[in-house]
Amino acid sequence: MLLITGASGRVGRRTAVLLAQEGYSLRLMTRTPEQAPKLDGAEVVRGDFAEPATLDNGFAGVSTALVISGSGKPGERALLHRNAFEAAARAHVKHVVYLSLQGASPTSKYPFSRDHALSELYLEETGLPYTVLRNAFYLDMFPDKFDADGVMSGPAKETRGAFVSREDAARTAAAVLADPPGGTHDVTGREALSLDDVARRFSALTRQPLRYQAESAKSARDRLCKREPPSWRVDLSVGWFEAIAAGELEHTSNAVFRFTGKKPMNLEEYFTLFPELLQPFRRAQDHASGS
Ligand SMILES: NC(=O)c1ccc[n+]([C@@H]2O[C@H](COP(=O)([O-])OP(=O)(O)OC[C@H]3O[C@@H](n4cnc5c(N)ncnc54)[C@H](OP(=O)(O)O)[C@@H]3O)[C@@H](O)[C@H]2O)c1
Repeated sequence: MLLITGASGRVGRRTAVLLAQEGYSLRLMTRTPEQAPKLDGAEVVRGDFAEPATLDNGFAGVSTALVISGSGKPGERALLHRNAFEAAARAHVKHVVYLSLQGASPTSKYPFSRDHALSELYLEETGLPYTVLRNAFYLDMFPDKFDADGVMSGPAKETRGAFVSREDAARTAAAVLADPPGGTHDVTGREALSLDDVARRFSALTRQPLRYQAESAKSARDRLCKREPPSWRVDLSVGWFEAIAAGELEHTSNAVFRFTGKKPMNLEEYFTLFPELLQPFRRAQDHASGS
């Protein structure tokens, strides 16, 4: 029995579908059972990392569990993950696969990266066999990063990132869950792109004038704090770009190919296959034309 947590989320849902198509026996854990994918032969259980008592049922009798990182404030997220790992240990799960972040480090510029580093430590402390998949930032994040004028502003400098699609992240998670290799692996796209490259390539794909505007971390913070009071959300938004600037997500790996047998999709291939993901650009275009 394979367990997937966060089964209503995007990567969890897609991983579940891919494994169900291969005939694996699945248990899907979610806080919202009514939103879990309906898959033949898959059990759905309610579980919330914030409520440890809800977890034991879900992990019981499981051979391999995919623990999808949950949502929460930086600093608190790792504690949620620890609850999940401890439940896996109580249930003597044979292998835990944890979805982490490329460059996870206690000294990262990105607050969630520091949480992932701590989560990885908690996983190791359980003594359970594990595989950590350190996903690069998702390509999927970009359509929402451009403003109504087609500008993506942020302190990423000209540094590159090896952005990966959620689809390749899910395919890799599915392959690894079926046959866990152990160890810690960066899961990246096949090329590293600067945000200038990203803007130019989305511009060509959508036939809209899009551009990247580099700015200092201070001016990003000031700009965001005009819209909302200073908070951990502002730290996350600025830190996302700063982690790119620091080269934390620059390295490309061959993990997607190694585990799935297919090269990761590049930006054009991915958004052509899933054109609905370009919707935010269409909304911006409608807004600009007043329709
Ligand atoms: N954004 C990036 O660029 C990036 C890069 C690398 C890694 N990641 C990580 O990859 C993960 C999966 O990405 P995604 O796009 O699939 O995210 P998503 O659609 O937001 O799904 C995350 C899922 O986590 C589950 N979750 C949240 N809080 C939970 C809790 N307290 N207990 C149990 N489950 C909880 C939820 O599932 P249910 O609603 O089913 O409970 C949620 O749908 C993210 O959480 C993120 O940490 C992101």
